[in-house]
Amino acid sequence: MATELWNAVDEYFSRALVKPDPALDAALEASAKARLRAINVAPNQGKFLHLLAKINGARRILEIGTLGGYSAIWLARALPEDGSLVSLEANPDYADVARGNLAAAGLSGKVSVLTGLAAESLEELIRSGTPPFDFIFIDADKSSYPDYLRLTLQLSRPGTVIVADNVVRSGRLGDPNNREPDIIGIRSFFQMLATTPEADSTAIQTVGAKGWDGFSITIVSASQTATGS
Ligand code: SAH
Ligand code: DHB
Ligand code: MG
Repeated sequence: MATELWNAVDEYFSRALVKPDPALDAALEASAKARLRAINVAPNQGKFLHLLAKINGARRILEIGTLGGYSAIWLARALPEDGSLVSLEANPDYADVARGNLAAAGLSGKVSVLTGLAAESLEELIRSGTPPFDFIFIDADKSSYPDYLRLTLQLSRPGTVIVADNVVRSGRLGDPNNREPDIIGIRSFFQMLATTPEADSTAIQTVGAKGWDGFSITIVSASQTATGS
């Protein structure tokens, strides 16, 4: 079976390239114990996000969709000493699990988990004049991805990197007859990327321990229409 080989290859990469990390293991254990679904990124994907944030020299990171804080730990570990991560989570119980996991990883000082609907938290961050983020990871409800893109662009600067998880959904994105809310949301997210002059993007499919899915990646540039205005 191909899927067994996907898993085997993911395990191979994780074993070869991802250093064992008790805090990450403990975060997954505590998440399972609290009955959170295991929809966190895979270890090699977490490290991929970590490397992207480092490549971008990110000092301020925004995450939408915390769950138990697994990807948040990976992202926060990419930050310099004075860096910070804001992560948004609708479910207060998940947010508590995440705060516990981040504390156990020694990252409480760098990470704030904001409870509430992400769109509302984003509006509030915009209203309060929060400085732009350097790296943004979108990973909450897929039907809201267009809203998250519209709002995060307002929290970006030229050079901000925006990564979105789960943009392929076992290939369902490729089925023009699919009308699921997630797929409709992801299509309209890509439509927005395609028509936003300051967004330069691509997307990559992935297979592995988390099935068949994919990431999009965008770098925000100075808006052509806004130049000089
Ligand atoms: N980034 C995590 C996984 C996130 S799973 C990791 O890889 O470790 C998606 C999360 O988004 C879930 O915890 C879910 O509760 C949260 N979520 C769903 N809808 C949301 C919304 N409208 N606002 C904020 N969070 C939401
Ligand atoms: C789901 C959400 C995710 O963020 C993910 O990585 C995988 C699955 C989901 O809601 O099914
Ligand atoms: Mg995801």
